[in-house]
Amino acid sequence: MMQKINEAVAFIKEQYSKKPVAGIVLGSGLGSFVGEIEVEKEIPYSAIPHFPVSTVEGHSGKLVFGKLSGKDVVAMAGRFHYYEGYSTDAVVFPIRVMKFLGIEILLVSNAAGGTNPTFKVGDLMIIKDHISFFTPNPLVGKNISEFGPRFPDMSEPYKKDLIVKAKAIAATNNIDLKEGVYCGVTGPTFETRAEYNLIGVVGGDAVGMSTVQEVIVAVHMGLPVFAVSVITDMGIREEENVITHEEVLQAAKDAEPKLTYIFKELIAQL
Ligand code: HPA
Repeated sequence: MMQKINEAVAFIKEQYSKKPVAGIVLGSGLGSFVGEIEVEKEIPYSAIPHFPVSTVEGHSGKLVFGKLSGKDVVAMAGRFHYYEGYSTDAVVFPIRVMKFLGIEILLVSNAAGGTNPTFKVGDLMIIKDHISFFTPNPLVGKNISEFGPRFPDMSEPYKKDLIVKAKAIAATNNIDLKEGVYCGVTGPTFETRAEYNLIGVVGGDAVGMSTVQEVIVAVHMGLPVFAVSVITDMGIREEENVITHEEVLQAAKDAEPKLTYIFKELIAQL
């Protein structure tokens, strides 16, 4: 694994020599954020040694390097989900590569279903903690000490100081921010009504099919994480609530400007 990461990193550094300070992972329907970056270099995933390649036609992912809020950043245009059939190693590979490219902070977004009845579609929820018992833990297997310790502490997976900064940014700009616990599931089915209820009962405020595996490896490597869910549907509220992928994408798109603003301001303050 370490050798694969090193080869991928060496290849990228040949193409682009600057060290990005922030890595950005964008969720479903949140991809136009990439348009905010003054692009200096794009590298398709398919060109990078050992990088997972999207199996879905027309889904050509790439790493986008450039300036955002005056800082050097790298964004993943396209992420890998466990439900697509990727191994856990593949899902987290880009996060490890970005860390070894030198990022000092990881910003993550996702689309999620609300299980907290006080939420509504279009809300942004700062992830303050997560539940990750449903997808395989990416650290299962021989520990690679170059990444981090065997038994990583998870008492602060989402950095408190970044949460404080984000709340201040939101408050001064009249952006309503919720805060809560994200529960990671495998998908690709949306949850049954009973499952949404269960997740609410066990302490989840939102549920989604990404993020937790990425965050676990980031924490393992000592990388500070800030993450936001866009609440794209309310699984539990209405008796007749049917959830479609289209509705999720539309809600994410509508809420994206608020998320973009917070990410840009956070990066400006780095
Ligand atoms: N459940 C799981 N994943 C999701 C949802 C949901 O309701 N909405 C967007 N991603």
